[in-house]
Amino acid sequence: MAGRVDIVEVGPRDGLQNEKGAIDTPSKLRLIEQLTQAGLRRIEATAFVSPKWVPQMADHDAVMRGIPKRPDVFYSALVPNEKGAQAAIQAGAQALAVFASASETFARRNTNCTIAESIQRFVPVLALADAAGLPVRGYVSCATDCPYEGEIAPDAVLTIARLLRQIGCNEIAVADTLGRGTPARVRAMLQTVLSDVPAHSIACHFHDTGGVALENVDVALDLGVRIFDSAAGGLGGCPYAPGAAGNLRTGLLVQHLTGRGFDLGLDLDRLAVAEDFARQLQTSANAIYR
Ligand code: HMG
Ligand code: MG
Repeated sequence: MAGRVDIVEVGPRDGLQNEKGAIDTPSKLRLIEQLTQAGLRRIEATAFVSPKWVPQMADHDAVMRGIPKRPDVFYSALVPNEKGAQAAIQAGAQALAVFASASETFARRNTNCTIAESIQRFVPVLALADAAGLPVRGYVSCATDCPYEGEIAPDAVLTIARLLRQIGCNEIAVADTLGRGTPARVRAMLQTVLSDVPAHSIACHFHDTGGVALENVDVALDLGVRIFDSAAGGLGGCPYAPGAAGNLRTGLLVQHLTGRGFDLGLDLDRLAVAEDFARQLQTSANAIYR
């Protein structure tokens, strides 16, 4: 299979947000630099969220400002509201990501509001991004399962994807937050979302608790999706999703996609260096849930 696939490296954000121990800012910057050197061109660097909610991302400003920006790399920031978007743009973020959920309970636990309220909070984020000329992706968490509500109906995912597109998100990242989606259920979910969202606007964000993330990648590839998230070293998890394991590991995804004929243009030796370092950070910091 030929053609282009984009990888969105989420290790510095999704990977590190869940680590309990302190990880210093220079180490985060070193990881981001190593990922850049490996050739990754979309890197979710940090989250401008409340430090009371996610202490590990409290140094978001120093991280975003500390990255030597390059014209060919998009360093993005996760933001929950206008306050976060303002700060991220001022710090030099080149793309933003907002995060909604297909589960009401998860929305409440993760962002202290209803799904509808979260969408309203994103409206000024999109306006700020538009004024700054930045792209915005919209996550739909719990796209197959919710840690509190169980299985999620595909229609609920489509509803949130539509809302995110209506307010201006250019990319929809459907997220298997818990990493428990089976290939059959991921296929059903994606087919439903694809009924109204073009494949080129969809990204898949798989955590890998169930060990079938690569099979889910194949399902998505077969349906035309060409953007995949992963984390160096397989770090990851969400403090508000107990039981969720790490994200699909970047090295594994790269190996798999290369085997399927995609040329990703990455330096595999340098990627291995970044993955080793990501694992060191993980070992030194004891994940909250694992
Ligand atoms: P809240 O407590 O309801 O909000 O939190 P608030 O407006 O009442 O503000 C409370 C305090 O937070 C105030 O400070 C605000 O200034 C401050 P205080 O006056 O008490 O000193 N605050 C902020 N500080 C920094 N940056 C901000 C910001 N906003 C308010 N942007 C809020 C609501 C949404 C802020 C909070 O719930 C929050 O930050 N949640 C983030 C949770 C989070 O980051 N979860 C992990 C990321 S999502 C994820 O991992 C899933 C994903 O990977 C996809 C998947 O796998 O599913 C993306
Ligand atoms: Mg995630």
